[in-house]
Parts: sequence; structure tokens; C-alpha cells
Amino acid sequence: MRKDTPIPSAVVDKYVEQMGLENVGRASIREIKRLVDFVEAETGERYVRMEMGIPGLKPTQIGIEAEKEALDRGVAAIYPDIDGTASLKKEISRFVKLFVNIDVQPHGCIPTVGSMQGSFATFMTVTRMNKDKDTILFLDPGFPVHKQQCRVMGRKFDSFDVYNYRGDLLREKLESHLAKGDVAALLYSNPNNPSWICFTEKELKIIGELATKYDVVVIEDLAYFAMDFRQDMSRPGEPPYQPTVANYTDQYVLLISSSKAFSYAGQRIGMMVISDALFARRSKDLLPYYGMEQFGRAMVFGTMYALSSGTAHSPQYALEAMLKAVNDGEYDFVEVVKEYGEKAKIMKKLFTDNGFRIVYDKDEDKPLADGFYFTISYPGFTGEELIAALVYYGISAISLAITGSERLEGLRACVSLVSRDQFPDLEYRLKKFHKNHKAD
Ligand SMILES: Cc1ncc(COP(=O)(O)O)c(C=O)c1O
Repeated sequence: MRKDTPIPSAVVDKYVEQMGLENVGRASIREIKRLVDFVEAETGERYVRMEMGIPGLKPTQIGIEAEKEALDRGVAAIYPDIDGTASLKKEISRFVKLFVNIDVQPHGCIPTVGSMQGSFATFMTVTRMNKDKDTILFLDPGFPVHKQQCRVMGRKFDSFDVYNYRGDLLREKLESHLAKGDVAALLYSNPNNPSWICFTEKELKIIGELATKYDVVVIEDLAYFAMDFRQDMSRPGEPPYQPTVANYTDQYVLLISSSKAFSYAGQRIGMMVISDALFARRSKDLLPYYGMEQFGRAMVFGTMYALSSGTAHSPQYALEAMLKAVNDGEYDFVEVVKEYGEKAKIMKKLFTDNGFRIVYDKDEDKPLADGFYFTISYPGFTGEELIAALVYYGISAISLAITGSERLEGLRACVSLVSRDQFPDLEYRLKKFHKNHKAD
């Protein structure tokens, strides 16, 4: 029999049955969202919603005003250039110089319809560059939609969970995958969604060296740019910079989302930064698909042209204005998003004080940073069981099982939508959960 829970179990059970959910723990993110919507509406109880990774902050007016002005000037009527406006491309190039400390010519700095289009376009183009290399390798855990992109375009992929292969151990494991010879590119996010691990310099060096050795393009997904708050990366042109594999290989594509760093998710604009060497690279294997040999041209006039013929015009002006303010040292975007890290610190403690464990907890020997996500488990529960149980306690999250993680006991918790005034509720609910389950 279910114990006394903060959310009346009869209400939860009613909607679970109505929705035909045989196993709540296995429900999709959207089904959990719907279930929680129903229960919240009937009970009036607000859930601590940690299932979806959407930005919880307002975008700066700098972007909004620039976008409005661009619309007033009439850009909506004009096709943008496929590879972005010249002024935005320059500003992106400046941004990566000032915050990553790398030199990339503006022609390789391309705005995309969200970072998701950047990954789609990159997977598509890199797997045509060498006819013997048709596979994308994911350093998991990762963002499930990237694999979905490979599936819908019929590309092969391979993956492994880096949990047991941190530091020097990464070399042998990664090499065992790359030595097969079929990997065209590898992708990881750093900081990582869902685990918030950040690769160390040693690990980035291993990745870069092996990528060079096996001729593999590294796709570095910087969706959470500069959000390893253990270091202050907020000052343009001054170290520390965003760590990057670009220091260890010249065959890279950086994907920089503006969804989280600038809370600009709704306008679907991201940045694809192709290294000068990769942009200029030529391959005859591109010819049948693109009619041209150069990677950069194939990307722009082949893939991007075919996908969307560029990125919406007005958000390009928003992004340019925000980048310019950041590059000129007039707007500190890192200060704004630090709120995520501060909330994570408090929330992690509430969980660990009540019997939960942090699943991914270290970068080699260093405690993990506090940021957008963290991972939790509770002794004796699988991830699925834990999600199903927490629903009765007014808490929602997603299972790590869908992220390629081997830690099947774990859940990903996202801090962005939880407001500070919910912390007392969270504490009360976790205490109750712990009281009800610790003796089981
Ligand atoms: C790791 C990672 N990559 C990419 C994205 C998508 O970014 P965008 O909104 O720019 O398409 C996300 C969004 O959650 C993400 O977490």
C-alpha cells in the first residue's frame, strides 16, 4: 500500500490510468509533463519540475531591441545570406577569439537554426567526406535528440558512457572505438547534458590527439558555454577561457547555442564554428553529393542551402547585438546565468541531506561544478522506479537511461524551471520521501 504522500495518490493513480501509462518511469518526457499538468490542475499543488531543460531566465533587452529594429527596417522581407550576415559572422569570430582564445575566420562562423541545425548539418556533411567513414561516435551520456538526428538521416552511430573512463583511462577506451576506422566525427557536450561533467584539459588533449591520429572531426557542443562556474570565464580577452579541443586538433566544429547562454531558445539561433583547416579541406568523396570538393563550401552551399537556406534574418541581428555587447565588455552574460549554478548548489544539498546520491559526481579528482543539471539516485531504486515514486511527492525528472548512460539508477534533474520559493516545498517533500523509504 502506498504511504502517505504529499500529492494524494488517488489523483496521481487516476491520471496514470486515464493516460494509459503502464509504467510511469518509462514514460516520455512529454508524457510526464502531461501527467504533471493534470495532477497540478486538479490538486492545485505545484510540482518541482525538473524534467525539461528549458531556460528559466529572461533574455536581455539588448537582443530584443536589436531584433525589433531589424524587423522595423524590413529584414523580414529579405532572404538572408545562407551563411549569415557579414557583421554577425565577424562578431562570432571575435567572440570565439575573446572567450575561447581561438582564431577562426568569419567565413567559418555560421549562424544556424539553433545548435540543433548545426549538429544535423555537421553529421550530414562529415559523413560524406570520406566514403569509408560513415559513423558518428557519441561520448555519452548525451542529448538524445542528436542520436535521433542520426536515425532520421540514416547515419550509423556508436557510443560509450565515459563514467568509467575519465582521465588517462579515456585514451584506451576512445582509441578502441576510433581504431575501427569508420568514425567520421565524434560529439560530446561540455559541460555535459545530462551529467554536468566537464572534461579536463588532459581529457580534451587525449580527444584532440586521437582525433588527429584517426582523422576524426570533433564536434564540440558548447550549449552551456562558460557555465563551468568553478572558473570565471566572463572577461573578454582574459584567461581563463572556455576549455576546448580546438587547442589540440585543427579538425573541429564548435556548436555554440544561444538558447541557454543568452536565454534565446525561442528564436532558434545558434552558432556553428568550423575551424579554418576543416573549412578549407578538400575531398573528392564530397563531389557526388555536393558537386564541389571543399568542406566549407559543401556545408554552406550544399547542406545549409538544402536544409533551410540560412537562418531567420531578425534573430541574427539580436545575436549580433548581444555578442557585440559581450565582446565589448558591456554585458556580462556569465553573471546572469550563474543563477543556475547557485540554485543547483542548494538543490543538490537538499537531495543529499535526504538520502539521495549524486551519480556523476567528479571530474577526475575534482568535485563537479554546479550548473544547469545534476544527476541523482536513491539507494534501492532503479531510475524508472524513482521517477514513478517521486511523482507522488510532487517532483518530476527524467531517467538517465534515455541519455546513453549506463547508470540506470540515475535521474537527471534540471534546475532551470524550479524557483527559489519552491525550495521549502522541495525540502519538505524530500524529507517525507526519505522518511517513507529509508527503512524499506
Ligand atoms: C547538449 C545540448 N546540445 C544542444 C542543445 C540544443 O540547443 P539549441 O536550442 O541551440 O538547438 C541542447 C538543448 O538543450 C543541449 O542540451
